[in-house]
Amino acid sequence: MSPPPKSGTDSPSIPFLKMEGISKQFALVKANDCANLDVNRGEIHALVGENGAGKSTLMRILYGLYRADSGRMYLDGDPVELRSPADAISLGIGMVHQHFMLVPPLSVTENVVLGSEPLRAGVVLDLKGAAERVKELSETFALAVDPDARVEELSVGAQQRVEIVKILFRGARLLILDEPTAVLTPQETESLFVILRRLKEQGKTIIFITHKLSEVMEISDSVTVMRHGKVVGDLKTAETNTEELATLMVGRKVLLEVEKGAPARGETVLELKDVHALGASKVPTLRGISLRVCSGEILGVAGVQGNGQTELVEVITGLRKPSSGSLRLLERDITGLSPREMLKLGVAHIPEDRLKRGLVPAFTVSENLILGSHFRPPFAGRLWLRREDIFENARSVLRRFDVRPQAPALPARSLSGGNQQKLIVGRELSRDPKLLVASQPTRGVDIGAIEFIHRNLIAQRDRGCAVLLVSADLSEILSLSDRIAVIYEGRIVGTVDSTQADEKKLGMMMMTGVLAKEDGNGAGES
Ligand SMILES: Nc1ncnc2c1ncn2[C@@H]1O[C@H](COP(=O)(O)OP(=O)(O)OP(=O)(O)O)[C@@H](O)[C@H]1O
Ligand SMILES: [Mg+2]
Repeated sequence: MSPPPKSGTDSPSIPFLKMEGISKQFALVKANDCANLDVNRGEIHALVGENGAGKSTLMRILYGLYRADSGRMYLDGDPVELRSPADAISLGIGMVHQHFMLVPPLSVTENVVLGSEPLRAGVVLDLKGAAERVKELSETFALAVDPDARVEELSVGAQQRVEIVKILFRGARLLILDEPTAVLTPQETESLFVILRRLKEQGKTIIFITHKLSEVMEISDSVTVMRHGKVVGDLKTAETNTEELATLMVGRKVLLEVEKGAPARGETVLELKDVHALGASKVPTLRGISLRVCSGEILGVAGVQGNGQTELVEVITGLRKPSSGSLRLLERDITGLSPREMLKLGVAHIPEDRLKRGLVPAFTVSENLILGSHFRPPFAGRLWLRREDIFENARSVLRRFDVRPQAPALPARSLSGGNQQKLIVGRELSRDPKLLVASQPTRGVDIGAIEFIHRNLIAQRDRGCAVLLVSADLSEILSLSDRIAVIYEGRIVGTVDSTQADEKKLGMMMMTGVLAKEDGNGAGES
């Protein structure tokens, strides 16, 4: 290995970061296959690619979490050798992971100093000094974090800003953000972009992973596209467009629109009458919800996050007990039943938080695929679980839902984020449910998989399933739903036919809780 030419750090010909010929083999897949990445100083560099393309792996190598099997890295033209994140941090590289790593009961400052406790006079933990520094960083970069707040009380967006403060506190010059917007509302995403622009103005370099090509176009200066572990495109954002990026990512043209026929609406499958429930902090969150979902239709629930969507889904799936009101599934009163009973009656659930509710990360893929039905035939024998049937089931679901790699014995945690999501979607849809509750069903999946999941939700509808769809993505609600219910402060303030709705009208209803005047559909449920 010959040393690279060295020159002044400001030389435009030398990228700030250069990764060259990076390869990484896991047991079953080559996650990175001779990947090259050049990032210029002070730019926002987007990294895109299908689920499992190797983006997170490449970034974990850059952050010293994994060691590459081969390849070289240079920072400012100097070769670097990273044995651990501590090495990366000392070089000014910081990473915010796809799944946050904060300690909820601790304060913001305590979380920020964890692992890098500043000592005063050699012994005392200088929390006061740290809190001041947190405040200072928060002001410089418009992060709006309160050093004394408890992390568990913060919104997802605020927790993410704490993660950013944490890496700035350690002196990061290069910030890696792995799918930061996947968990954010559209409004929170806009605030994050304000912060990213501020960081860039102050000379920071940012690598930004996303599946949303509109975000790439809005925020990045350049973009690298990965496919099957390789880099297949390296472009200036100003010189490309979403179609070109989509085609590079997936290797074929992607239909960015959903095709669906008119719904064949049947009997009422789910009916809620005046349902009340308390939220996480014991305040009344659902305050008289009435709604109805019929077989053969998709009812979308639109609302600004925090208006009761999460609690609504929890009540319907048995995860939260209503304090009053009633729920019916077909002819049955299901008020207050447990999740397992709901499941037995044909209620499937794609949860919004895949690691908390959807998967057991340490279990294998095939075990995760029978979660919830492990106690029933054909998986449960008289005394033991039937291994061959479980494997056969896994192979079939993995094939049908294109989960990669197709390896039933792999622990779920070693799947890429988007493939974990596809695994859950596959499990829930293959139950042939009567009612499907889909909460943020395409969070973190690539555009090819979004197209695929959308088609499958419509196929469920056409099979006669009643689908309740909750999504923070208004365009997803508009393109999939047959009717749209707007939720505001724990009530359904109006239901509109999706052919009569548009983003502007819905947005107004979501913000004000008032149904647009000219609409004859009436508030509440018809
Ligand atoms: N620790 C691990 N053990 C085994 N395989 C792994 C491990 N980490 C990643 N992989 C595999 O390497 C491949 C690349 O995964 P990676 O997480 O880098 O993808 P990604 O591009 O970030 O995808 P996504 O968009 O879904 O987050 C996947 O096939 C994944 O299953
Ligand atoms: Mg990833």
